[in-house]
Amino acid sequence: MTTNWWRDAVIYQVYIRSLADGSGDGVGDIAGIRSRLPHFADLGVDALWITPWYPSPMADGGYDVADYRDIDPLFGSLDDAQRLIEEAHDAGLRVIIDLVPNHTSDQHPWFKDALSGHRRDRYVFREGRDGGPPNDWRSVFGGPAWTRVDDGTWYLHLFAPEQPDLNWDHPEVRAEFESIIRWWLDRGVDGFRIDVAHGLVKDPALPDLGADREDIAEPPRRADHPHWDREGVHEVYRSWRAISDSYAGERVFVAEAWVAKPERLANYVRPGELHTAFNFDFLRCSWHAGRLRAVIDSSLHALGAVGAPATWVLSNHDVVRHVTRYGRAQHTGPRHDPDEPVDLAVGLRRARAAVLLMLALPGSAYLYQGEELGLWEVEDLPVSVLQDPTWQRSGHTVRGRDGCRVPLPWSGDEPPFGFGGGGAWLPQPAEWAMLTAQSQKDDPGSMLNLYREALRIRRAHEAFGDGTMTWLDSPEGVLVFARDPGVICVVNLSADNFPIPDHRGVLLSSVPISGTVPPDAAVWLTV
Ligand code: NOJ
Repeated sequence: MTTNWWRDAVIYQVYIRSLADGSGDGVGDIAGIRSRLPHFADLGVDALWITPWYPSPMADGGYDVADYRDIDPLFGSLDDAQRLIEEAHDAGLRVIIDLVPNHTSDQHPWFKDALSGHRRDRYVFREGRDGGPPNDWRSVFGGPAWTRVDDGTWYLHLFAPEQPDLNWDHPEVRAEFESIIRWWLDRGVDGFRIDVAHGLVKDPALPDLGADREDIAEPPRRADHPHWDREGVHEVYRSWRAISDSYAGERVFVAEAWVAKPERLANYVRPGELHTAFNFDFLRCSWHAGRLRAVIDSSLHALGAVGAPATWVLSNHDVVRHVTRYGRAQHTGPRHDPDEPVDLAVGLRRARAAVLLMLALPGSAYLYQGEELGLWEVEDLPVSVLQDPTWQRSGHTVRGRDGCRVPLPWSGDEPPFGFGGGGAWLPQPAEWAMLTAQSQKDDPGSMLNLYREALRIRRAHEAFGDGTMTWLDSPEGVLVFARDPGVICVVNLSADNFPIPDHRGVLLSSVPISGTVPPDAAVWLTV
């Protein structure tokens, strides 16, 4: 029986190093995830997406994979992974794992071979030009995208030097990943999140980027970009889809694809390709009614045209947590200036409204661990603890992404707040004592209970999830839309109170309301 579970699933992102530590070494692990399964089931999510857990030198938090068919001892063993998959299934949760096909670790046996002068064809090695790298491509983490090896040739790495890019024109690379996918599907995983899904295929001529060079970390603006979002990636995904379709149980793929516009994203989820793709336009949009509405419309339009559901996401392990983003002045673009003042109370209030908006939209949604606790970005981590390669590669000018990766506070009054028995690999703010899961559990007004209620209602009420929506008339700054049958969502992003439309009942509101929806608040109504 087809359930299409993925068309409206709410998927909880587990950043494994920071969820919970079962072994007492200060780093999150599989035992920690297993110990928190009751939290996810109680929260009411449908699936977990677990960031890379494979053997890795951790040059980029595990996105540098040395062996795709094993588990890093830091996180546990293959048996632990198998147990987690089974226990999650028993708890009604599906498990999606992270597949990293654009690059391996420099400690992967293939790259070690390449360095010793054998089989370099599985990576992208080239002669330099005028004593420098083969072209002007930049690494996403800063600096050139090329590193020179002992014999004078260079290899490509769009990320850290410890993450050499694979050569996807090589049949062996393709065959290897097909085999890896089958290997994990055989172990019962329900799907894969595809890392850098827009990056695998490069223009074989490796042309200079020229003027577009500065935009490496931004979605590509120009068509025919030499290393982002090239047509050739789609052939790869068609072959992967054929594999997942051959397994029982609706196994799925979600693409991490940073592309220019929704129509380009839709290409990844055409019939016969991937199931869903992250909607980063929504994540990057500021707290502004008109801009959000435009993103919602363009996403639904483009994805609907190929028959795919939209997805919605507010935060992940690569971006500033949205409580902090929304607590700053709201610019037109995705700009985020860490030196700008932030009002966390405003950010929190908007985050409460934002999750009601997100969970009322048609499609599927992703939650990033800790957002259900209202965690903010930790922007004052001492530089001595920073681990994101961005910090080093930018010559200590960009702090990077550690601030959204600080271990979760579960219980107790002081760090590590029940994260584990051995401290936490990044220091947690003392103020998180008031944000622990334990302290929020019995507080009806807490963020945790807002998420729990929203997910419970979303699951119980047929109006939510997959389907269509209709905008209703509203003044500037207010979003009002209907979901059939019989639900209206109001989100007030203006500075004025908005009178509550006629309704039968209030399903849920982000703040206590009577008569009007105040600024930066949202409500779900039955009509
Ligand atoms: C995207 C991942 O989300 C990010 O954390 C990682 O650094 C890059 N891909 C490289 O794998």
